[in-house]
Amino acid sequence: MTDHAPDDRAARLRERLADRLENAGLLRSAAWRAALTAVPREVFVPAFFRRGDGPRGTLWTPALPDAEGTDAWLEDVYADETLVTQLDGGVHPGDVDGPVGGEPTSSSTLPGLVVRMLEDLAPKDGARVLEIGTGTGYSTALMCHRLGSDHVTSIEYDPAAAARARTAITSAGYTPRLIHGDGLLGDEEGGPYDHLIATCSVRTIPPAWLRQVTPGGTILTTVSGWLSGSGLARLTVGENGTAEGRFLPGMVSFMIARPHAAPALDDYSDLLRQPSDERPARHDREVFQSWIPLFLAQLAAPGAQGLSTRADGGPWLYHAIDVSSGSFATLTPTSDESGFLVRQGGPHRLWDDIEAAIDAWETAGSPPQTAFTLTVTPTEQTVRLDTPDGPSWTLPTWLPPARRTRTDTLAR
Ligand SMILES: C[S@@+](CC[C@H](N)C(=O)[O-])C[C@H]1O[C@@H](n2cnc3c(N)ncnc32)[C@H](O)[C@@H]1O
Repeated sequence: MTDHAPDDRAARLRERLADRLENAGLLRSAAWRAALTAVPREVFVPAFFRRGDGPRGTLWTPALPDAEGTDAWLEDVYADETLVTQLDGGVHPGDVDGPVGGEPTSSSTLPGLVVRMLEDLAPKDGARVLEIGTGTGYSTALMCHRLGSDHVTSIEYDPAAAARARTAITSAGYTPRLIHGDGLLGDEEGGPYDHLIATCSVRTIPPAWLRQVTPGGTILTTVSGWLSGSGLARLTVGENGTAEGRFLPGMVSFMIARPHAAPALDDYSDLLRQPSDERPARHDREVFQSWIPLFLAQLAAPGAQGLSTRADGGPWLYHAIDVSSGSFATLTPTSDESGFLVRQGGPHRLWDDIEAAIDAWETAGSPPQTAFTLTVTPTEQTVRLDTPDGPSWTLPTWLPPARRTRTDTLAR
């Protein structure tokens, strides 16, 4: 039995969530608290997938209020959790009866991260914001509440997610400018904007964003890539296609923008059979499991994808594979399991580059991610370790849609 009508209960759960996020230091202002306690998240997440372990990997079980009861359902909706709402670019919780496999392709980001990013963005009254990655529309609605719907534009790549978000945003009473399209191209007609916030990650800052945000305005986005290293960068836009800023604290990651997704790793066996050399690894598997080392690996080997494989009964092998250059590095445990050997082949010694980046960071005293800066010019985007003689790395070259290579197109 419910003690309160669902609306009252939801309102109390919103207050409780706001208290928790305030105590955690994520919610820092009365203005965003007012938005968080007003916007009904349940409208944006009418159903979601619950994550579980299956015999052959992750399984996703649909979670719907009818099956769970409204009270239990609302508790989940107002937990500080990401709620996955779409798998594989088209499977929604109402489409399946039981657990299914698949890759998340849309979600409602955990509210703690949403409000933390909105606080980091810090738009003033009257500011105009462009959001990339509408998803469920929840974060869009928070911004509408805070700034007014006519100050908010949001772009969603996925047609089904865009349509569902439009319905939810409208039924919650907001009327922002909603676009179904590629957010990497921004919104030329609706700009200029004072701020851009991306809730999907990018490999390279799209030039359109630099054109569409006014000089002095802010871009807040995660920069990531195919090894899954990630960092949240806040950039101030300059004149003529420039921007600069710093990475912010926290382990922040988002699903990668679909046009920036890795090409399928269909047949890499020939690539791994190339002539190669082997040596003891100085940094090994832990690179894939540690936040800043993985971020550095990403910067040092921007074309590489991570993969782990295991032959019947054999040890796990960890690979970094760069299909475009035809290079690879494979980590194999030594026979006494005291360390790893690394085998490298192809034109680039990927693991040498990754180890050199981690060595340079360790030599600088292993500073936090806030020690890294990002400078964008019309010709180059550079991440630098902001220490005396700190090393730097270049982000992948931006490819306009018309000039995208076949693999970029396939990745959509
Ligand atoms: C983590 S979800 C967004 C969460 C959302 N802000 C919310 O509160 O529900 C990321 C979204 O980015 C979308 N996306 C991916 N690539 C995109 C692109 N190039 N342009 C616009 N949206 C994109 C995905 O389809 C997905 O819905």
